[in-house]
Amino acid sequence: MLSTQEIRAKFLDFYAENQHAKVKSSSLIPGNDPTLLFVNAGMVQFKDVFLGAEKRNYTRATSSQRCVRAGGKHNDLDQVGYTARHHTFFEMLGNFSFGDYFKKEAIQMAWDFLTKELGLPVEKLWVTVFEEDDEAEKIWLNDMGFPKSRLSRIGAKDNFWQMGDTGPCGPCTEIFYDHGEDIAGGPPGTPEEDGDRYIEIWNLVFMQYDRQADGTLAPLPKPCVDTGMGLERIASIMQGKHNNYDIDLFQHLIKKAVALTGARDTKDPSLKVIADHIRTCAFLIADGVLPSNEGRGYVLRRIIRRAARHGHKLGAQSLFFYHMVPALIDVMGEDYPELVEQRDVIMAALKKEEQKFAETLGLGMQEFNKMTQKLKANEPVSGAVAFKLYDTYGFPLDLTQDVARESGRAVDVSGFESLMEAQKVRSRSSKQFTQANQLSAEIIKTLPVTQFLGYDRSESNAEVVAIIQEGSLVESVGAGSHAIVILDATPMYAESGGQVGDKGVITNDSGVHVVVSDTQKAANQFHLHHAEVKSGGLSKGDQVKVQVDQSYRNDVILNHSATHLLHKVLRDILGKHVQQKGSLVNAEKLRFDFSHDQAIDSETLQQVERKVNDAIRANYSAEANVMAFDEAVESGAMALFGEKYGDDVRVMDFGGYSVELCGGTHVKATGDIGLFKIIEETAVASGIRRIEAVTGSTALSLIQENERQLRLLAHTLKAQPGQITQSLMQLIDKNKSLQVEIDSIKQSQANAAVKNVFDSVKVVGDVHFLSHVFENTEVGVLRDHIDGFKGKFEKGIVVFANVKEGKAQILVGVTDAMTQVHKAGAIIKDVLAPLGGRGGGRPDFAQGGGDGDVKTLEASIAKVLNTLQQK
Ligand code: ALA
Repeated sequence: MLSTQEIRAKFLDFYAENQHAKVKSSSLIPGNDPTLLFVNAGMVQFKDVFLGAEKRNYTRATSSQRCVRAGGKHNDLDQVGYTARHHTFFEMLGNFSFGDYFKKEAIQMAWDFLTKELGLPVEKLWVTVFEEDDEAEKIWLNDMGFPKSRLSRIGAKDNFWQMGDTGPCGPCTEIFYDHGEDIAGGPPGTPEEDGDRYIEIWNLVFMQYDRQADGTLAPLPKPCVDTGMGLERIASIMQGKHNNYDIDLFQHLIKKAVALTGARDTKDPSLKVIADHIRTCAFLIADGVLPSNEGRGYVLRRIIRRAARHGHKLGAQSLFFYHMVPALIDVMGEDYPELVEQRDVIMAALKKEEQKFAETLGLGMQEFNKMTQKLKANEPVSGAVAFKLYDTYGFPLDLTQDVARESGRAVDVSGFESLMEAQKVRSRSSKQFTQANQLSAEIIKTLPVTQFLGYDRSESNAEVVAIIQEGSLVESVGAGSHAIVILDATPMYAESGGQVGDKGVITNDSGVHVVVSDTQKAANQFHLHHAEVKSGGLSKGDQVKVQVDQSYRNDVILNHSATHLLHKVLRDILGKHVQQKGSLVNAEKLRFDFSHDQAIDSETLQQVERKVNDAIRANYSAEANVMAFDEAVESGAMALFGEKYGDDVRVMDFGGYSVELCGGTHVKATGDIGLFKIIEETAVASGIRRIEAVTGSTALSLIQENERQLRLLAHTLKAQPGQITQSLMQLIDKNKSLQVEIDSIKQSQANAAVKNVFDSVKVVGDVHFLSHVFENTEVGVLRDHIDGFKGKFEKGIVVFANVKEGKAQILVGVTDAMTQVHKAGAIIKDVLAPLGGRGGGRPDFAQGGGDGDVKTLEASIAKVLNTLQQK
């Protein structure tokens, strides 16, 4: 029996033998495609190649692409666990032709692979073609000899494939497998088609169009082929299973989930949910996504929480989900080394999120049960309940829907949404992935690829090839207008790889002066100059002169080259687990995020700083070489995991010390950086640290400013700069001893004051009464004297007030022999009442304060004496 891993290898080998380049799976995060939340098909990494906007040095390719279908156009989250074949994460085996072969060869190769390589019996297969595609039908019937009785013509809903609302698309032919008459369901195109008997295994798309935002179809430069076969589906067939979750790979995960949760029934749908979700979550984290409240991070959060809830349902007593990672590595680590490399980061992020949710999950479930107990059977869960679960217990809406479904209920989604709207929660949908620097395929077709001249020039002549305003091409723009200008060639670097775009000016002899405030990239090929026409008019076809703002660019490149050195040094000092997780390089500073799971102590940071500066002084000269990706990686160049690279890559080499794949602009030799100074080191997320630093004259200014502060301090302290700490310590010590002195002076003054007061003790019958209003006296001293008074007289009452900053503190002492008759608490209440204050205490001692009129004190104390005299 073929294992899932063997089937994957067999597929790729078959197409490689048929002259297809084996291409690695891209990251789940689409490179340069803001229209898409996650990579959801094998063709995504080739989108620009289909559109004709990108060229590769092959016209046939094959891959096994990791895909996520959760959120966005293709979303299978709700189905997972309850059907035999839905997954949020799956691998898509595919073969691609970029203007090379078309329908006939595509069908022929798929047919050979299934029937000859895998040996599937023809009578188990069923085929569909797009209802208007006579050509495909003929190929099946005449060339493959496929029986007409098992071929259906199907409409656009199922047999016209498109990647998203816009982008490459075309009619398709699909191959189905008949799982046998024991299973309910009918062939495709029949009313029973949704059953589980006939399962689609392979989709062969004949890419011919680019769907525009307005819905129209623009033809692609050349007809292409894009196919996709779910690895898990074909594995289930090859392993004689009906349910995908019964294949070797999932069974290994399910076994682990049983052990971790204590589940009793190994067929429980919750186990499938967990086995599915661990793959999605682990790969998303490996590709740089972390749980958050918006966009991709929110999808990840939802999936982790859903898995946690299913674990809880199965009886997991503690955090379990992150313990699934080693089991996943067992079955997928060999083909996806990124899982092994990122193991700790993945586990830490999962654990943190699960822990966060564990605090509210149980309470949220109780709330859900309480709120739904009163409902009639089938009555939906109200939007208010779903909102409360979301807002108070962190239950994403789909999690509540998932719970509700178990008791056969729906959730009032629109009620929930209007509550969300009311709360103006930040949009966490995929809406933010709108077109920013996107060019329509219509425009792309008219453009030559921008030639980038800026690696060794800061100035050049160019021709204006397009001017775009509000998404449309215009012929010219006048003074005062803003537009995107595209040139045939430019020295201006367009933002990518963390490095910001260049600024500069576009001019010509006839008085055109255009200021470029930013340069961005579209379709990986076109440099978009974000421009404002200051004077003159700019027209398509104009010959212009382009000048990069050289001092801005200089500041940027120092930071960029320093980032490479920092990356290298961090790996040398902290270890090879350090991986770049994000970077921003602008004119002010550099910011570098990387995987590392603890704060870096200041000594190590200094060591990092010193080593980067050593590399600067070593003055390594920079060399950029273009070579094949595999060659670059073999030669030890650091490639950023999750980046989308073409076949030929640019390798930035600083004297062999730091060698990294990079398309950015750099210094000529590391000595140009001058100086490198870390500003701070912080945490970005669990397992991810951030270092921010400055270079060149900015670093010098920072040091000078620090020095200025030190001098000022030294001057103020009247010390030499080298003796500031010593001088400061002396000052602090002196301050301490002065404080001690002050305290003791205050104490003796207070003692003296109280002693004088003792002369005024009044005697009423056999009771001694003492009262006084002090000013700014230590309360501690007063308290001591109250104790002394009580030790001296058997029957006595003392009332002290202390006025400080307009507020009065009152202390009342009553000797034990008197507490039966006069309680300190009662006396203090009377004294405090006119002050609007409160206080209390034991029968023999009470203390309190008030900020009312302190002039009332004398009278209220006299009253106490009066009462005593009357008794
Ligand atoms: N891109 C096609 C699909 O995803 C093959 O079904």
